[in-house]
Amino acid sequence: MTDQRTLVLLKPDTVRRGLVGEVLGRFEAKGLSIVAMQQRTIDGELADQHYAEHVERDFYPPLRTFVTSGPLVALVLAGEEAIEVVRALNGATDGRKAAPGTIRGDLSVSNRENLVHGSDSPESAEREIGIWFPGL
Ligand code: PPS
Repeated sequence: MTDQRTLVLLKPDTVRRGLVGEVLGRFEAKGLSIVAMQQRTIDGELADQHYAEHVERDFYPPLRTFVTSGPLVALVLAGEEAIEVVRALNGATDGRKAAPGTIRGDLSVSNRENLVHGSDSPESAEREIGIWFPGL
């Protein structure tokens, strides 16, 4: 099977808490390849593009504030079934409910400050990669 690509964000809480190495290490240890990686602080416009399907939701304004609050690390990871593999490693959205052994289950107690984002479908992955790494 050919490799699949997925867009991953290590959100500002991961950088602020000094967990970039810990989280990145889990993806690498699983066998995923880092295709691209960049640390940056984004503005609200880019946040709106990335979260286009959520901008009208009640939870979006604080999510927008959070995701623009400091540097994050954007990554493209590749591997067999990378989208599903990353989402399994990330765990459920709410860190309080995520299973132990997952990134969120081990390291987060929030559904906003939940450390990581992973694309949820091949279509989302290509759309998100185009936003964060144009031309890749
Ligand atoms: S949904 O309803 O299934 O489409 O949403 P979900 O995938 O669970 O969440 C989408 C992203 O929104 C974030 N989220 C929240 N942020 C702040 N407050 C609340 N209550 C909240 N609920 C969900 C969640 O962390 C998801 O972010 P990403 O970056 O996509 O993982």
